[in-house]
Amino acid sequence: MKAATVLYSLSALSAVYACGDGPGHIHHRRARRENITPPSRPLEWGDINIIHTTDTHGWLLGHQKASSPEPNYSGTFGDFSSFVTHMKAIALKKDVDLLLVDSGDIHDGTGLTDGYPPGGVDAHDSNVFFAKLPYDLLAIGNHELYVYEDTLDIYKNFIPKFKGRYLSSNANITLPCPGGKPRSVPVGNRYAKFKTRK
Ligand SMILES: *[C@@H]1O[C@H](CO)[C@@H](O)[C@H](O)[C@H]1NC(C)=O
Ligand SMILES: *[C@@H]1O[C@H](CO)[C@@H](O)[C@H](O)[C@H]1NC(C)=O
Repeated sequence: MKAATVLYSLSALSAVYACGDGPGHIHHRRARRENITPPSRPLEWGDINIIHTTDTHGWLLGHQKASSPEPNYSGTFGDFSSFVTHMKAIALKKDVDLLLVDSGDIHDGTGLTDGYPPGGVDAHDSNVFFAKLPYDLLAIGNHELYVYEDTLDIYKNFIPKFKGRYLSSNANITLPCPGGKPRSVPVGNRYAKFKTRK
């Protein structure tokens, strides 16, 4: 493997322009992206490249205030999805690998993930968006382990979508077993072995 390049994400995404969707409907937040400092040098690509998200904590709408340094972190998860699509296309053209990786803590941070709908399971709804991205590998975060219902929800509804690529090392979940003894099983996979495209 030659030098891997880590391409940082969820911040400093290129500007996205508002669509004209009727009078009086102004996207203030998007206009403020003019304040974003452009990249200071071109990205270097290697044979293996990684886009890594971590600790997204429900900030799927990015940071929205005008004051510094918020504009630097104003990319939404939709912008990020678009960024990933473009980067994957470039990787294909360059004939190199580009892996999309997340290392957990995807809730506990905003109203989009926490306590919505009232009495609901944290991140149950936002995880649907998360799972739409072509993640190659994910790892559990400590915040996924604080509330049993949250862990059970990702175990049942989120992790299976990644087909063995969601890693949880030594974190187990205890599952009820009607009529039998509860079973302790790994939340995700202990490890994943796979071939990259190249
Ligand atoms: C954004 O980040 C760059 C690079 O770290 C910094 O120079 C700039 O001041 C930041 N911009 C804002 C608005 O905070
Ligand atoms: C975790 O799950 C594995 C596989 O089911 C099991 O062998 C192990 O004993 C469990 N660990 C604990 C601490 O229960």
